[in-house]
Amino acid sequence: MSVRTAVVGLGWAGRELWLPRLRAHADFDVVAAVDTEPAARAAFDTALGVPVHPTADALTAQDVDLAVVAVPNHLHAEVAGALLGRGVPVFLEKPVCLTAAEADALAAAERDGDATLLAGSAAPHRSDVAALAALVPDLGHVRHADLSWVRARGVPRAGGWFTQRGTAGGGVLFDLGWHLFDTLASLLGPAPFTQVVGVTSSDFVNAAAWGATWRRDRPADDAVGDVEDTARGFLVRADGISVSLRAAWASHEALDVTRIQLVGSEGTAELRCTFGFSPNRAPESALTLTRAGTTTAVPVPDEPIGDEYRRQLDGLATVLKEPASRGRAVGEARTTVRVIEDFYASARSAPARNVGPAHRWTGEDQ
Ligand SMILES: NC(=O)c1ccc[n+]([C@@H]2O[C@H](COP(=O)([O-])OP(=O)(O)OC[C@H]3O[C@@H](n4cnc5c(N)ncnc54)[C@H](O)[C@@H]3O)[C@@H](O)[C@H]2O)c1
Repeated sequence: MSVRTAVVGLGWAGRELWLPRLRAHADFDVVAAVDTEPAARAAFDTALGVPVHPTADALTAQDVDLAVVAVPNHLHAEVAGALLGRGVPVFLEKPVCLTAAEADALAAAERDGDATLLAGSAAPHRSDVAALAALVPDLGHVRHADLSWVRARGVPRAGGWFTQRGTAGGGVLFDLGWHLFDTLASLLGPAPFTQVVGVTSSDFVNAAAWGATWRRDRPADDAVGDVEDTARGFLVRADGISVSLRAAWASHEALDVTRIQLVGSEGTAELRCTFGFSPNRAPESALTLTRAGTTTAVPVPDEPIGDEYRRQLDGLATVLKEPASRGRAVGEARTTVRVIEDFYASARSAPARNVGPAHRWTGEDQ
């Protein structure tokens, strides 16, 4: 029997990622949609042929088996928590939560409503990431992971909620960084982080020219973004594996490149590709294995852009029913949100250098 599904939030993710794939998938039946904005509702009222509500309060466990929630970040815990508390299972977009306290609230809602929370986690469902995962056993003891997702340009919704700390929780770290942490956990297994050093900068976030063209967002308004567009860090997991991380919404590069390098006692595996929907893509996904001075190219299956979102849906109906799914998304989100909180705390303790004209450090600046 297909999963009666409601899409909550008809913005870019609801509209472009989830509605078309849910409607095309045999396991799901889209039975309702929700958006607080009349304009967003109007665009779908007739097109969908299902009720489009102004609030998720209209959804009940009698009518809906799953709510796919894609609302601005600061509303994730509130909207998903209310649905879970009323017994409606939720598939929640990343970032699942913005604080450890929100993770606790979601865990309580899961228990109170006896309903499961699942988390959006697309990148591990990419075929090139799966090919990299298949190489992990050849690497011996994994010692280090080098993760980076650096866009040429791609600040989402510049001037909107995505670039305000109050509504987004933070900047690129909560956006692309969340995907990188999620991918790492899928490759090496989840583990908390015991040491975190990070710095952030914001050289691009308020310049409209650096926006994400593929989103076709409204032009930036006068609001000034107060989040980072770039984050660089060095971290250590509880299992001793070190991680260097770089996430950037914009840079001086020509292409958007995602790079995942895993260094082990027996070899190094490296994937170079482009996560997401950017048009400035690496021409193809390239996976290599380096051992004893020889680098070998490993074939990677080709797939259409964005196919990982469909593939995540393939297993979702089963995952939803599994008792082991209860609490898993919250547990993983708690680990991720803690490392992000620690990263920001480290970045706050670094001297601020992102104000005023660039100049050389003279030693007298302190
Ligand atoms: N997995 C991915 O690759 C991916 C990509 C893009 C966005 N996202 C995530 O999806 C979420 C939404 O992002 P977006 O880019 O679609 O933003 P958006 O601003 O384009 O859309 C958000 C929509 O939610 C609606 N909304 C606001 N409050 C609501 C509420 N209480 N109930 C129902 N609807 C409400 C807004 O009116 C808007 O239409 C974010 O959390 C973002 O991080 C994930």
